[in-house]
Amino acid sequence: MTEDTNKRRAATAALSYIKDGIALGVGTGSTVDILIELLQPLAAKLGQVVSSSERSTRRLADVGIRTVDLGSVGDLDLYIDGADEATKHRHLLKGGGGALTREKIVAAASRRFVCIVDETKLVPTLGRFPLPVEVIPMAQAYVARQMVKAGGQPIWREGFVTDNGNVILDVRGLTILNPVEFEGELNQITGVVTSGLFARRGADVLLLGTADGVQTLKR
Ligand code: 5RP
Repeated sequence: MTEDTNKRRAATAALSYIKDGIALGVGTGSTVDILIELLQPLAAKLGQVVSSSERSTRRLADVGIRTVDLGSVGDLDLYIDGADEATKHRHLLKGGGGALTREKIVAAASRRFVCIVDETKLVPTLGRFPLPVEVIPMAQAYVARQMVKAGGQPIWREGFVTDNGNVILDVRGLTILNPVEFEGELNQITGVVTSGLFARRGADVLLLGTADGVQTLKR
């Protein structure tokens, strides 16, 4: 309950970054679901909107917000998304909802990334939450072996297929002391599409919903 209130606080604070005619990227997850609900009265003010998942596309349509393909827009002004873990350096671990690849693409194409989380997501070191890794299906066993070599315990997210037709390995047991370097290492493994580490392109602004209000962490 408190977590939901704090998610709402963070989502509400993100509205102040939305200017008239803005080209907006919308993330995925329960915190973003709250944001989408809050966007409904602002629909007329928005410029082009790009979604990071089929789930968010449907939810945006439900509140009367039409989305366009990223390919038909240039860079986006702003991307708003949640996270499963965040550090004070604004490095993120994402992908609990399985939308990590499209999320990373939309984040990369955005001039500013505002991340909205409740305070339980703030951690000193990433890795307590299992790290999602999206994998080309035929590479699943190979990538799993590489994850074991990296010190993790990969578990196939059974029955889950990403919006891109791939599978997810959730990797437990990692203590990610250098997320920028580790993200680069994961990117080099053949068969890995994306990892849920968002450190090379982390958040520009982290809005942390707490019982005392919203804390803003930024550069
Ligand atoms: C989805 C994500 C979400 O941002 C992450 O799982 C956080 O979700 P929630 O807002 O429900 O806690 O990365 O792929």
